[in-house]
Amino acid sequence: MRLCEESGVHIVELNMEKPMESQGPFDLILQKLDDITATRNAVQTYTRKFNLQKFIESHPEVPILNSLSKSQQLEDRRNMNARLKTFEGRIQDIDIFVPSFVELRNSIPEDCVECMHEAGVTFPCVCKPFDATHPDTSHDMSLVFEHSGLRDVKTPCMAQSFINHDGILYKLFIVGPKTFITRRPSIKNLNPGEYKTEHFRTADVSKPNSSSHLNQFVNNDQDESSVHQLDLQVMTELAQTVRNGIGIDLLGIDVIVESKTNRHAIIDVNPFPGYDGVPHIQQMLCDYMIDTIRSTRSKQS
Ligand SMILES: Nc1ncnc2c1ncn2[C@@H]1O[C@H](COP(=O)(O)OP(=O)(O)OP(=O)(O)O)[C@@H](O)[C@H]1O
Ligand SMILES: [Mg+2]
Repeated sequence: MRLCEESGVHIVELNMEKPMESQGPFDLILQKLDDITATRNAVQTYTRKFNLQKFIESHPEVPILNSLSKSQQLEDRRNMNARLKTFEGRIQDIDIFVPSFVELRNSIPEDCVECMHEAGVTFPCVCKPFDATHPDTSHDMSLVFEHSGLRDVKTPCMAQSFINHDGILYKLFIVGPKTFITRRPSIKNLNPGEYKTEHFRTADVSKPNSSSHLNQFVNNDQDESSVHQLDLQVMTELAQTVRNGIGIDLLGIDVIVESKTNRHAIIDVNPFPGYDGVPHIQQMLCDYMIDTIRSTRSKQS
């Protein structure tokens, strides 16, 4: 905030439960959908979205980071993954893919196994809630190793093939044309089999310092020699392709590199992420807001 004030940008924290018109005028709106939905109250969330939508409609000249409607397209993991599938293909000599996924309507193993088979979803699989933005429930997931384990899963949910990736997650952080790549711990390699279903919170496995039995390597769980060299150019091209395709300038993309094959899987995308580990992020965001205001004005004049 201080950095912005020093650059001549006055920041106003909005009261989203009140009409925005009386709180302006504004040169730019910076919004994070997770903050809008963080109320845990459906009526309040509706009011916040309504107020923002109303302002956007009456002020098409005011740029918004990020677009509300485009951010909302990523709220449901089924839509998000369908959108991500459009980026499958090849960048240089690297295959880019989205692990197979399917909607599970109930926890009856026989029903689920059939749907999974049709969609190409294999064990182990990760079961994720549809809603990616709910503060309490969105990050509770399960790892299922064989069909009878599906009984332990909370449905409806999305089941996605678990891709072995040597316990390394790459977070691609985007601020407009700039891309930053950070490395995080992640879930170790797993095999299908008669193992108990594992329930986990995503923060316990893939935040910078998270430590869980799921990401602790034992003996030769991981073959260090298989850990790949990352091609930064490919990652940057992937990040900017996804940014342009989705049309969101402040974006985080989670990528894992499949053990042995080196194929790159996109497993998650977050509008306006936390940017943990990106140096000078506040200054960069402030500069990007100023650039956006200037370029919007020059297009309008
Ligand atoms: N298909 C997959 N294959 C392997 N590991 C996966 C897969 N999907 C998710 N994971 C693991 O689970 C973690 C959480 O998954 P995901 O990113 O979908 O959840 P999230 O809670 O939305 O994440 P975020 O904290 O980025 O919002 C990942 O960081 C990764 O460690
Ligand atoms: Mg994620």
